[in-house]
Amino acid sequence: MFRHSLHKLLRGLVLALWGLAVQADGMSAPQINYILHCQGCHLADGSGTAGKVPALKNAAGRFLYVPGGREYLVQVPGTAQSALTDCEVAGVLNWILLNFSETELPADFIPYSTVEISRVRPHPLADVSAARARLMAEISAGTRSIPTNLSGKH
Ligand code: HEC
Repeated sequence: MFRHSLHKLLRGLVLALWGLAVQADGMSAPQINYILHCQGCHLADGSGTAGKVPALKNAAGRFLYVPGGREYLVQVPGTAQSALTDCEVAGVLNWILLNFSETELPADFIPYSTVEISRVRPHPLADVSAARARLMAEISAGTRSIPTNLSGKH
């Protein structure tokens, strides 16, 4: 009797784990990292919470147009201070930009590379709100930066 229920329990467990594996398989690693490390604040659809957490949805890509904006997306504490490796940060930022902000992306968008993240991430923003305010003002003013991936020669 005991043996029978144990068997049932084990079978249930195996099925549950298999279900999880299949689910995880259907998602990319960057998406899983987003869910685990970013979604708590930025929400599943990247919409954020007005006045508290900025929306990434239909928004993040705008930073790529202004000088310093590309670096800002890496230096912002939620990204730079996450537990993710530089390679994973590159993956999750590219995923955010392509999934939430594809319509805002510049036509000449160059995905982040691990080398670029490693170069920019160790340099924190002195004042996050001030940096964001300056970038938002430049975005509104329509300032356009020269595209660069910062990871190699210009
Ligand atoms: C604890 C809540 C929290 C978590 C977790 C978080 N963020 Fe953020 N994020 C914020 C806040 C708040 C801002 C606005 C800038 C600031 O004050 O830090 C922000 C800004 C950003 C921005 C710039 C967008 C803008 O409009 O300023 C990006 C890109 C970003 N986060 C990406 C991420 C990524 C990638 C992760 C996961 C690895 C993440 N965030 C995790 C709260 C969070």
